[in-house]
Amino acid sequence: MNQAGNQYGPGEEQETVAAKRAFVTGTSHGLGARLATRLAEDGWQVTGLGRRPRSETALPPEVRYLQADLSDPKALDELPALIGETPDLIVHNAVSYPPRDVSALTLDELEGIFRVNSLVPYRLTLDLLAAKPPERFCSVVVVNSESIYHADFASGVYAASKAALRVLTTSLADHCRSRNAAVATLLLGPLADPGKVADLRAVAERRGVTEAEITRLFLRKSNPDLVIEQLIDFDACVRSVRYIADLGTTANGMMCKLDGGSSGSLV
Ligand SMILES: NC(=O)c1ccc[n+]([C@@H]2O[C@H](COP(=O)([O-])OP(=O)(O)OC[C@H]3O[C@@H](n4cnc5c(N)ncnc54)[C@H](OP(=O)(O)O)[C@@H]3O)[C@@H](O)[C@H]2O)c1
Repeated sequence: MNQAGNQYGPGEEQETVAAKRAFVTGTSHGLGARLATRLAEDGWQVTGLGRRPRSETALPPEVRYLQADLSDPKALDELPALIGETPDLIVHNAVSYPPRDVSALTLDELEGIFRVNSLVPYRLTLDLLAAKPPERFCSVVVVNSESIYHADFASGVYAASKAALRVLTTSLADHCRSRNAAVATLLLGPLADPGKVADLRAVAERRGVTEAEITRLFLRKSNPDLVIEQLIDFDACVRSVRYIADLGTTANGMMCKLDGGSSGSLV
């Protein structure tokens, strides 16, 4: 290693290795922002996508950012050209959370949620894989939720859109056979997203107990099946995406559950 920290000696040519390209949706904040930032730090050439303008995100300049509303069919038509060559890694992470009171959702609003959460990942994967040269491998990671295993009235729309995504992901994995591509699911339980963490911290302060204690109580109450006592941190999700991508074609059809053990069944 030379003084500049490069692994080549004086007079030796540095071999130029093209950076791998990743496309991640839902990168304006939350898990997607963390994932895009970490991949860029690892040397990936990252294109992210979110609905709000870039100025309202905290993404580093290395991450290219596309502003698009995935519930708008016109945006989807334009996306493959904006993304360019099919990336080596695609992560479908964007999510449209329905409001707490789902009873007033119109059919259009329901369709919008299903577009973002299930139909766009499906359609866009087909488009990007069709444009991929056969010799290039592409890894597709679809972020899903353990909510697919249980629904009540409030969570039903979200859970159904994610359940549809799960079934469509399976069909995409079948489509990937002999296509030098892999489509896998990363199925997550409750994340340590800043909003949830701040809410729990506020409750802990009000009650004069520790954040860890209130988190434990929250998890036991919100989902008694869970066997974890801490929220799932973003970096564990990032490591899981890297792991799936590293597996190559073996990951096709895989379900990686980082969900706190709440699979709804012991089998
Ligand atoms: N949070 C959890 O506890 C949890 C648990 C299990 C699984 N998951 C899964 O993990 C993933 C990330 O969740 P998260 O909680 O980190 O999400 P989040 O913080 O709410 O972020 C959602 C992202 O999706 C984007 N998005 C929403 N609607 C969009 C639209 N119409 N067009 C384009 N982009 C849109 C948002 O962009 P704008 O804000 O700019 O609109 C944002 O970047 C999701 O797939 C979710 O289902 C989360």
